[in-house]
Amino acid sequence: MRQKNPEKMAETIKVLTEEKRLFPPPQEFKESAHIKGMEEYTALYKESVEDPEGFWDRMAGIVDWTKKWDKVFECDFEKPEIKWFLGGRLNAAYNCIDRHLKGFRRNKAALIWESDEGEVKTYTYQQLSREVNRFANVLKKKGATKGDRITIYLSMIPELVIAALACARIGAIHNVVFGGFSSASLRERISDCASNLVITADEGVRGGKSVPLKRNTDEAIADYPCVENVIVVKRTGAGVSMTEGRDTWWHEEISEPDIEEISEPEEMDSEDPLFILYTSGSTGKPKGVLHTTGGYLVYTALSFKWIFDYKDEDIFFCTADIGWITGHSYVIYGPLACGATCLIFEGTPTYPEPDRFWEIVDKHRVNILYTAPTAIRALMRYGDEWVKKHSLASLRLLGTVGEPINPKAWMWYHEVVGKGRLPIVDTWWQTETGGILITPLPGATTLKPGSAGRPFFGVKPLVLTKEGKEAGSNEGGYLVIEDSWPGILRGTYGDPEKKRMKELYFSHFPGLFFTGDGARIDGDGDYWLMGRIDDVLNVSGHRLGTAEIESALASHLDVSEAAVVGYPHEVKGEGIYAFVVLREGMEVPGGFEKTLGGQVKKVISPIARPDKIQFTTGLPKTRSGKIMRRILRKIAGGRTEDLGDVSTLADPSVVDELVKGRK
Ligand code: PRX
Repeated sequence: MRQKNPEKMAETIKVLTEEKRLFPPPQEFKESAHIKGMEEYTALYKESVEDPEGFWDRMAGIVDWTKKWDKVFECDFEKPEIKWFLGGRLNAAYNCIDRHLKGFRRNKAALIWESDEGEVKTYTYQQLSREVNRFANVLKKKGATKGDRITIYLSMIPELVIAALACARIGAIHNVVFGGFSSASLRERISDCASNLVITADEGVRGGKSVPLKRNTDEAIADYPCVENVIVVKRTGAGVSMTEGRDTWWHEEISEPDIEEISEPEEMDSEDPLFILYTSGSTGKPKGVLHTTGGYLVYTALSFKWIFDYKDEDIFFCTADIGWITGHSYVIYGPLACGATCLIFEGTPTYPEPDRFWEIVDKHRVNILYTAPTAIRALMRYGDEWVKKHSLASLRLLGTVGEPINPKAWMWYHEVVGKGRLPIVDTWWQTETGGILITPLPGATTLKPGSAGRPFFGVKPLVLTKEGKEAGSNEGGYLVIEDSWPGILRGTYGDPEKKRMKELYFSHFPGLFFTGDGARIDGDGDYWLMGRIDDVLNVSGHRLGTAEIESALASHLDVSEAAVVGYPHEVKGEGIYAFVVLREGMEVPGGFEKTLGGQVKKVISPIARPDKIQFTTGLPKTRSGKIMRRILRKIAGGRTEDLGDVSTLADPSVVDELVKGRK
């Protein structure tokens, strides 16, 4: 197992002290915020960790329950066993839609969709309700019932939200697969959770290009007969092949005469699964992180409301794809549970021009913008003029997620996009945490560019040294979480005894949740995230396991071995550097880098394609055969003058070859 790597942590401890300015919350913002000032935060935080039972008992009323819980939680990280709101019953889709139909929100926009080409479609809560109900009936007609796993392989179109909520309505577990994944990745995710129904589209559209979603689906399930039904959204009208008896069109299914009947939402137990979302780890294949209903919904709703200081009149624009956790928690569940208006965007920030986000903000009068540092860095490179062409006067809050934000990008976001007046919430969390755990609160926190602020209510993070002692102020260490919070994962799919869950998250420091991230806490108690300390890469905010990319490279017949590491990349945050050893005696064929890039694209996704491939005759291994990644990371990052001790290598001469051949 390649985890808990102190060397990598030492390398990633970048003390971000270049920007010393502090940004207290603007007075006006503070006065109208849900959490008004640090005193309120401190008092409530204290209550939340000293009396979690009382705190969450009070907070859980943010969602509607058909039966109140008997017990707030039962959690034991040693086992691990995690249960929240035991005995409580509710339905997530009811909470995201039906309950808003009773009052003024009925005719409020729930979703505003902007297509890649700029077409706009709006769904009020009432309209969304009809669509979700109709599609829930379609799913039922196909035989889907509570507990079934349904795969959704779509790009950012309203049907993705509708399909996910329809699953939740009937109690089926959705498994959303990012539309940028290859057919091989899709197959892996369909078969791992034994899903027998797939929802896709003829094509996806992004940045003026189309993605053959239906063709990929056909390839993925060609030799997987367990998929009995494929429902296809007509997005572009491109010709696709439809398999008789298996494939049907979404628009035809929802037009059947009996489809309008109101189907009552399935009453779910608080701990019944809501969804599975596959994510990469440091070893092996991606794992299906499992979230359940009650705790997840309470946590995403409350964190959404307070962290984004959401008010009913706001328009919230989260640029994340629903294929990732950010889209699940802060496009679908958190916002819709709060009755918010969510803008969803199909395209990319730079198409047709690099002011697309700003154009959208002005066109729809967006109030809260939540995006990733990689997008900020990419847009920053095009220059301020693209931003200044637009007023952006509607914006009142900015947010970031997915990777550490460097102070330079933070300052640009603050000054150029936020005109120096908007708070920024740099939110730290993970697929496994379900919702945001460390974050500023916009009406309370004095912001430090590059710091994610303090823990959210009920969250008890610790930074530990490798010996398991609490790290001192500003001393970097492993970020772990003590005690449970309602949004934490309940397991990984196919691991009912939670052995894998225990090994992955609760074994490094027994009794504590291991995040895989490095962090330091400064003298004021603010957290600074330092990136992954395991073999997980964060490329443009996308989480990728080095082991997966290595295995994709090694699946080419001419590759004997591959080692993949990350290196600092100005826009992507981390770039992918692959060291590849070909079959014994083989010369590197012309254009082979491209071939291997294509191989990774085919096996995983274009997002996993290495930025650099270096061919070598060997890798730096210890005598016991372990690859010394520390050396590879230093070579990839250009720090060749300081390779450290190489004497323990089986063949130290390989290092010279690697340094000379560096890309
Ligand atoms: O390394 C951390 C980084 O993203 C990882 C989680 O990736 P994923 O499960 O795909 O979820 C991403 C969206 C929540 C973390 O282990 N990360 C996420 N947010 C931040 C961050 N690193 C630094 N600062 C953040 N705000």
